[in-house]
Amino acid sequence: MPIQIGILGLGTVGTGVVRILQENATDIYTRTQCNLQIKAILDRDLHRERDINGDFLLTDQPEKVLQDPEIDIIVEVMGGIEPARTFILEALQHGKSVVTANKDLIALHGHELLDAANAVGKDLYFEASVGGGIPIIAALKESLAANHITDLLGIINGTTNYILTAMAEQGREYSEVLAEAQQLGYAEADPSSDVDGLDAARKLAILASIAFNSRVALKDVFVEGISKITREDLTYAAELGCTIKLLAIAKHQNEGIEVRVHPAILPLTHPLASVNGVFNAIYVVGDAVGETMFYGRGAGSLPTGSAIVSDIMRIVRNIQSNSTASINCTCYLDLPLKAVSDFHTAFYIRLLVKDEPRVLATLALLFAEANISFASIIQKPRDENQAEIVLVTHPCREGSLQEALDSIKAYSKVLSIDNVIRFENEDQKA
Ligand code: NAP
Ligand code: HSE
Repeated sequence: MPIQIGILGLGTVGTGVVRILQENATDIYTRTQCNLQIKAILDRDLHRERDINGDFLLTDQPEKVLQDPEIDIIVEVMGGIEPARTFILEALQHGKSVVTANKDLIALHGHELLDAANAVGKDLYFEASVGGGIPIIAALKESLAANHITDLLGIINGTTNYILTAMAEQGREYSEVLAEAQQLGYAEADPSSDVDGLDAARKLAILASIAFNSRVALKDVFVEGISKITREDLTYAAELGCTIKLLAIAKHQNEGIEVRVHPAILPLTHPLASVNGVFNAIYVVGDAVGETMFYGRGAGSLPTGSAIVSDIMRIVRNIQSNSTASINCTCYLDLPLKAVSDFHTAFYIRLLVKDEPRVLATLALLFAEANISFASIIQKPRDENQAEIVLVTHPCREGSLQEALDSIKAYSKVLSIDNVIRFENEDQKA
């Protein structure tokens, strides 16, 4: 008996799913011993030219997909919160398992949807919601399940990685590269969710919840985007043997878990430093396995479709073995969240100061009063009587850094504090 599939949304990802199911049908049959058939697809636009064909119903009426008793699996690739949430709940109520790529929805309503799937004994899989084609959710839930995960660091937004890579490699300005990313279709016309870090924060909430078995909501993630990063910052980072990446960071320490998305100065020796362009990667440290890294295309029709079709095949095997809902929600714990003021990192601080005697000494004193010492200092002359200084601190509490910044803002020889960027490196553990 074939297993029938319904798809909600025939856009970039939906067409990728159709193509993979059709073009790789022989391999998929070999691996599942089952014919998978697309029965119906929902989309608002029934006439748009698409590079796919097939013997399925294309409809703009949701009930023709959601209520078809012959459909076993629903793939939600419409995006957005509503009506996607309602459609998934309805599909589960009609006894269908669900695959979705919708990180916005899973980050906000994952708990509710997984509970609904559990209640009816069906599967809800969402591998494609983080890292596109990179197998990270199954890796965390299954392949690394024997580990206590301590650190998860990700480059999980391709648009911002493309921008920062081009700025670093070609010495170009942020606004110019952003415009190019929009022309190339990497960045949306409104790029705020990517460049302000929200897209990465949603994905991090999903990953951290799974890695630490404790629910991390979107509001728990500290978020800072890349729009303040300049060509100068990337040049200084290179002088320090580092680069700058938008990192999604989740750590499980004795005091609790910390989850943050922000630009980070990363040593060139770190495995994530060489992840460039639109590529994504997730670096995971487990107590037994040690360091691991998962790398690949974080977006695109076929890469994202790859994750979705693999989830479909997982559900097919569950249906065949009558073991649905075997691994749904994994948030068994309720771990405390660390306060932002207790984050512990080294900092890069770029300042414009009056080029006069005792300025550096006073800065050192003001930082020392907050219990912070410098690891290195770069000074460059700017206009007449002005100097640009980059201070690199030893690792310190974020709360202490804020105290020091408040003091130096009040110091008359400091003309401007132009950027403050956190480091991410092994020394921070010291
Ligand atoms: P897309 O190209 O905009 O496709 C979505 C399709 O669904 C469009 O044809 C859209 O029609 C249709 N649709 C939306 N709401 C509908 C409704 N209420 N009724 C009927 N049709 C509806 O989006 P996508 O890039 O394929 O992304 C789909 C999902 O995958 C999103 O959740 C996204 O976050 C996720 N995702 C995407 C990628 C990627 O590389 N694109 C990667 C990972 C995850 P209209 O065009 O008329 O709105
Ligand atoms: N906008 C995302 C990115 C792709 O730039 O990585 C979809 O998750």
